[in-house]
Amino acid sequence: MKLTILAAAALLGGPACADTYADIKISAGKALFDAECRRCHAVDADHASYGPPLENVVGRAAGSYEGYDYSIALEASGIVWTPAALRAWMEDNAGFMPGTKMRHVGIDDRTVQDFILSYLTSITIRDNSAISK
Ligand code: HEC
Repeated sequence: MKLTILAAAALLGGPACADTYADIKISAGKALFDAECRRCHAVDADHASYGPPLENVVGRAAGSYEGYDYSIALEASGIVWTPAALRAWMEDNAGFMPGTKMRHVGIDDRTVQDFILSYLTSITIRDNSAISK
């Protein structure tokens, strides 16, 4: 009986830990997003946003948020917001895409990038794979 309980706890323990790490990354990412990005970016169209709302951004075609007035540079870039592109953007958006109207943010710490990416992934609920190819 005791063994069964231990085995059950071990089984539950594995995935629960993985979830805990993911949750911690997401909440750290949200705090960093709130500090670094939120003043210009809402996460959905219900809130006013100087920059484009970032819901569903991972895998989204750049410059494709319906109704947002993008710079020509961003709109014509033809890129997709893969995790690698989002890292390059956080690190040096103006260098990555000359002509963008987003002011330089310069986040070059990979851990911080990771956390923010976890958060952006958590607010990506649409399957963008069809337009990411
Ligand atoms: C000072 C305001 C400001 C801050 C701070 C800011 N952004 Fe932006 N962001 C913008 C603007 C404005 C645009 C539109 C740029 C354009 O059209 O060239 C943009 C565009 C983007 C896009 C492209 C979205 C799309 O629909 O193609 C992403 C991704 C993005 N920002 C991520 C971030 C992240 C992540 C942070 C925080 C690390 C951040 N931004 C901080 C103003 C800001």
